Amino acid sequence: MTEQLAYLNGEFMPLGRAKISVLDRGFLFGDGVYEVIPAYGGRLFRLDQHLERLDHSLRAIRLDPPLTHSQWRTVLQELVQEGADQSVYLQITRGAAPKRDHAFPSRTRPTVVAWATPLDTGPPRPARVLTHEDIRWQWCHIKAITLLANVLLRQEALEKDCHEVILIRDGKVTEGAASNVFAVIDGIVVTPAKGRHLLPGITRDFVLELARAENLPVEERDLRAGELAQAGEIWLTSSTRELVPVIELDGNPVGDGRPGPLWHRLYHRFQDYKRAFRGER
Ligand code: PDD
Repeated sequence: MTEQLAYLNGEFMPLGRAKISVLDRGFLFGDGVYEVIPAYGGRLFRLDQHLERLDHSLRAIRLDPPLTHSQWRTVLQELVQEGADQSVYLQITRGAAPKRDHAFPSRTRPTVVAWATPLDTGPPRPARVLTHEDIRWQWCHIKAITLLANVLLRQEALEKDCHEVILIRDGKVTEGAASNVFAVIDGIVVTPAKGRHLLPGITRDFVLELARAENLPVEERDLRAGELAQAGEIWLTSSTRELVPVIELDGNPVGDGRPGPLWHRLYHRFQDYKRAFRGER
């Protein structure tokens, strides 16, 4: 197997050779942002939307974009293997300063790194999910690399034989530890409206488009924890797991405990779209 290729600060190299300083502010403070972009059949999916979200994240942490969109396109395409289903991880930090100090350093180059990994695009495993108080900070719309709360929550789920955590803030669903949340309430597809307490997921927007194209009633609004507990269907969306049906919430079956009819419908539309996107049809 050929070694995975990485991009680090303007150069391509084997991933195992990509090294950064221990003084990097990403390492010391989690001072950086990231993106995860899926590629189907070697083509990056919704790249413009991911790059726009990256610009928002960079602006929010007051970092200048190190590359233009067209430079990103060239770099990321170089990392993705022809014809493969992969996801590209990219991260930008405020770079390595000569000394550890919380305040921004005056003249530091950002650290820019990216590489691609295989993406499992087979049918998703239906998920068992826990709810938990949203213990994260208030700026969850920024795709920050600072993910300690998400890491602890996901691990807690795994240790309780679950796959994901759905977070509740002030009695309302925000999102999953690494996904957005949808619920079917009285036949209506409901997902929390965008705002500071959740990441504006690219897959979320895509699934909303699919639902609207199927003429399903859709609402972007507050989703109360009590409504979630009564939902006929619950789904999770993310770039790496696409559209996952939730079959158990806090130990109780969702609907009849099997993936629901609207999930089946949108999942098949998602797969049709991917096939066409890959150029298979
Ligand atoms: N995470 N919310 C959170 C907190 C996330 O971490 C993610 C994705 C999403 C879904 O966003 P998108 O559809 O754009 O992938 C929502 C990525 C996959 C990760 O951290 O690996």
